[in-house]
Amino acid sequence: MPTTRQVSLASRPETAVLPENFMMLDAATPPLGDGDVLVRHIYMSVDPYMRGLMNDGGVAYAAGFEIGKPLFGRVIGEVAESRNADFREGDFVYGMLDWAEWSVAKGGESLRRVDPALAPLSYFLGTLGFPGLTAYVGMMLIGKPKEGETVYVSAASGAVGQVAGQLARIAGARVVGSAGSDEKVRFITGECGFHDGFNYRIAPTVLEALRLHCSDGIDVIFENVGGENLDAVLAHANPFARIAVCGMISQYNLAEPYHLRHVKEVVSKRLNMQGFVVRDHAHLIEQFIEETAGHIADGRMAVAEDVMNGLDNAPAAFIGMLAGENFGKRVIQVGQDPNAF
Ligand SMILES: NC(=O)c1ccc[n+]([C@@H]2O[C@H](COP(=O)([O-])OP(=O)(O)OC[C@H]3O[C@@H](n4cnc5c(N)ncnc54)[C@H](OP(=O)(O)O)[C@@H]3O)[C@@H](O)[C@H]2O)c1
Repeated sequence: MPTTRQVSLASRPETAVLPENFMMLDAATPPLGDGDVLVRHIYMSVDPYMRGLMNDGGVAYAAGFEIGKPLFGRVIGEVAESRNADFREGDFVYGMLDWAEWSVAKGGESLRRVDPALAPLSYFLGTLGFPGLTAYVGMMLIGKPKEGETVYVSAASGAVGQVAGQLARIAGARVVGSAGSDEKVRFITGECGFHDGFNYRIAPTVLEALRLHCSDGIDVIFENVGGENLDAVLAHANPFARIAVCGMISQYNLAEPYHLRHVKEVVSKRLNMQGFVVRDHAHLIEQFIEETAGHIADGRMAVAEDVMNGLDNAPAAFIGMLAGENFGKRVIQVGQDPNAF
């Protein structure tokens, strides 16, 4: 069995995540038992929810990482050896696996085969993976945009945001996005076909920017950021607007959370504000992949991904993503992709 390098949790961050919160270890992969599969990792997903799992006690819907143990997340890999009748050597698979070069996975529900003929393998961690499904759940099941309505998406060039905005555009809505650089805004208003966008880092305030870019108010909000962004959204929401609360990335590293000033608008405007977690909708993934692969193949949906190389760069990739360094879905390539040109 191969030895594997792993990214483990050295300590818990107090506020911002630091390089010293991680440690690199070499470990032996255990022998395969009945039903086990040896997976050679190719791509690892770098996701904001992992920040919550670094805290003591994790988050309301999942236990946290353990100190001294490898971090884990969504991984695409190739089956190198199998003692499971459902998986053969050479299959490409997807599962919640360690941040490592190799791992031994249980088959069953925890591992799913992916079809490399459908799209580049890394897409199954982004637009065709759980970030894409997150966008679908928030936009189509909660936001339900209608033709002619105004939709606003924050963190709009990111893994979830780019799909959320494009789904609303396909549904016929007028879509406005915000992002943290002019290049990101050019991507959403260019390739992604958003109708308008702004760079929140140079706007005087999000409140002012929304007054300008959503002058008819907002009917559907896809909230990825929280804090000042959510406050401004509450101020500009139209009566009966739907707010899909997907994430609050501006808050994850803060010791003291932002206090909303416009929260009373939820009552006076009769807003429908709903938080959600994608794992509750995991059963929709196969149907989602089929539909969305069609959008990509037909040129209706653009994809931006940000691939970094090498397991040793994983901590920096994660810290950088939380600070907005990524342009699109951030993944780390840790092994050779035989399907890449
Ligand atoms: N509910 C669920 O099931 C679920 C599932 C997946 C993700 N999420 C949430 O969805 C959101 C987006 O996740 P993602 O995977 O698509 O990540 P992402 O957008 O690809 O990457 C994170 C982005 O957040 C933005 N950001 C960071 N700090 C910010 C701040 N203080 N203010 C405004 N923007 C900031 C940065 O973009 P800019 O340069 O544009 O600032 C950064 O690139 C996160 O809140 C995440 O927690 C929720």
